[in-house]
Amino acid sequence: MPYDYESDASNIKENLNCVHIGSDIVFLPEIDSTNNLIKKYLINGAHEGLVVVAESQTGGRGRMGRTWHSPPETGIYLSVLLKPIVEPDRFSCVTLLAGVSAVLAINEFSHQHGSLKWPNDVLINGKKVCGLLCEMIQKQGEPSAVIIGIGINANHLAEQFPGNLKNTATSLRIVNGSPIDRLTVIRSFLTNLDREYQTYLTKGEHSMIKKWRLNTDLFGKKVSVKRGSVIITGTAMNLDESGRLILRQDNGHDEVIDSGEITLG
Ligand code: BTN
Repeated sequence: MPYDYESDASNIKENLNCVHIGSDIVFLPEIDSTNNLIKKYLINGAHEGLVVVAESQTGGRGRMGRTWHSPPETGIYLSVLLKPIVEPDRFSCVTLLAGVSAVLAINEFSHQHGSLKWPNDVLINGKKVCGLLCEMIQKQGEPSAVIIGIGINANHLAEQFPGNLKNTATSLRIVNGSPIDRLTVIRSFLTNLDREYQTYLTKGEHSMIKKWRLNTDLFGKKVSVKRGSVIITGTAMNLDESGRLILRQDNGHDEVIDSGEITLG
């Protein structure tokens, strides 16, 4: 039987009870990248809350210029458009908000708890189950929209990951020992994102950063981060009030990291 993506789209729409997210949901069998498609819709005036879900991606993009392995039937690939009316310097907090929503959704379905790795990967047993690519769109020099792209390893078997990911990636299916209903996970992520976004808009980032801290086991661990050509190593201590990572170097000096990627160990 051919894959019925239209019924998936209406299934998600019918059971979604969100304030900001999901007024429009586009469900496609294949696209280069759901983030790219949202960008195109944005140029044509798309509204906040637009969701694009794809069964597979031919050019899935990850952070730091990497690709995101996006075969059909196994993964979840979706993007959401948000247009938060907040000061430009608070836009970057949406990245953490997306991570919190992802780990909360994953914990609803996983037999083992997920842990956030700054800024917004979700790991289970030290292996990556979910990644987020958040892209700020600038207008007249100021951010005007954020595209949140999320990839969740849902139903992959260990042997379905390509060689370079075999030791570092996991899936909900591997963790649970049984397959998962991807539509239910999608609905949960969108519902969590909608609720966390609403709290962020009305109360600020404080409670979201608190939730981020509660959903990580990163603090106290040795990490390194690449800044340009320099590698800074130290112990991950905490997030500051803006969501930046505080890294204590071996000489006792605290370095505040606001972007980049950390490596554990
Ligand atoms: C990362 O961990 O490097 C981020 C991965 C983000 C992947 C998702 S899949 C849906 C959306 N579309 C993309 O091209 N990338 C994101």
